[in-house]
Amino acid sequence: MLFISIDEVKYMLAKIEAIRRTALEKVAAASSSEELESLRVKYLGKKGELTQVLRGMGALQPEERPRVGQKANQVREELEAALQEAKTALARREQAARLAAEKIDVTLPGRPFRRGYRHPLYQILNEIKDIFIGLGFDVAEGPEVESDYYNFEALNLPKMHPARDMQDSFYITSEVLLRTHTSPVQVRVMEARRPEIPVRIIAPGKVYRRDDDATHSPMFHQVEGLLIDERVTFGELKGTLMAFIKQMFGEKLQVRFRPSYFPFTEPSAEVDMSCGNCDGSGCRVCSYTGWLEILGCGMVHPRVLSMSGYDPEKVSGYAFGMGVERIAMLKYGIDDLRLFYENDLRFLRQF
Ligand code: FA5
Ligand code: MG
Repeated sequence: MLFISIDEVKYMLAKIEAIRRTALEKVAAASSSEELESLRVKYLGKKGELTQVLRGMGALQPEERPRVGQKANQVREELEAALQEAKTALARREQAARLAAEKIDVTLPGRPFRRGYRHPLYQILNEIKDIFIGLGFDVAEGPEVESDYYNFEALNLPKMHPARDMQDSFYITSEVLLRTHTSPVQVRVMEARRPEIPVRIIAPGKVYRRDDDATHSPMFHQVEGLLIDERVTFGELKGTLMAFIKQMFGEKLQVRFRPSYFPFTEPSAEVDMSCGNCDGSGCRVCSYTGWLEILGCGMVHPRVLSMSGYDPEKVSGYAFGMGVERIAMLKYGIDDLRLFYENDLRFLRQF
């Protein structure tokens, strides 16, 4: 269209003004959020009245469009602001009404909240640590993924040594495995501290073996002990272990030191306790022997000392490695260590 009368512009401006007035009136009168939303759609939505007017601007002469467009935009902004303001005010009023209507029953009993607690094995582990810290030991740690060198070789177990068969493990490569015992921490600590004495540490942690029955788990916990000083004797080892056992179990269980063999200690012993499950008369827990083995120990082999940088002519030491599950079994009278790992709360809650 080439010609549009000035009346057409006037008409459109008047129409916009009319929309403005009714829209503002309706917004002011709206009594719910839903109503406000439908007003927004009615005037400002894609097919809303104001939007339609703006669409119709194509029919105006180019120089007339800005006047109408400006007015329409002013009204759009004014309407948007009014809607927003009304929405906030309404939301506040609606919330106040909800709160006024709501009745809180303060006599309603609370929901029970179950408090977590330590797994029984870690309770025992903490007890073991406390006892040895009380005896002057520090706590050391080492990696669970270990090299063949630390797990075997530096403990006097060279590649083809038959005693490697005592501990079959999980290999990652031919040189890297899940540690079969905590004894590699002995070597790591000695390497780090040589030639300092005394060395007096315990090293608690997880170890892994190809084992699985009522007294053997494929993953279990040990606490290693190592003491190096001048003139350390087997008598001191025995005294320390007896002091530990007395604090842990009291006087009622019987203890025996049994000669044994480890490539990294000489002489070596294993410590058994009278089976708490059958009081020594024989059952499946103790393989009908009346005894349950809790640890291995001995005097640190001179070759282990020298491989880790200590002079066996000047210092000596003792070491031990105890099974945490076994100690927990004896202490709590449990006949199958697999119960610790089934995560049955009926079992775990008893401790
Ligand atoms: C050792 O592992 C030696 N490293 C201990 C040692 C350290 C000796 C320092 C000398 C000097 P042994 O394989 O016997 O030894 O294991 C030690 C203890 O771990 C056992 O007495 C037993 O209590 C526990 N144990 C062994 N295998 C398992 C298993 N599969 N599940 C649960 N406990 C186990
Ligand atoms: Mg053993």
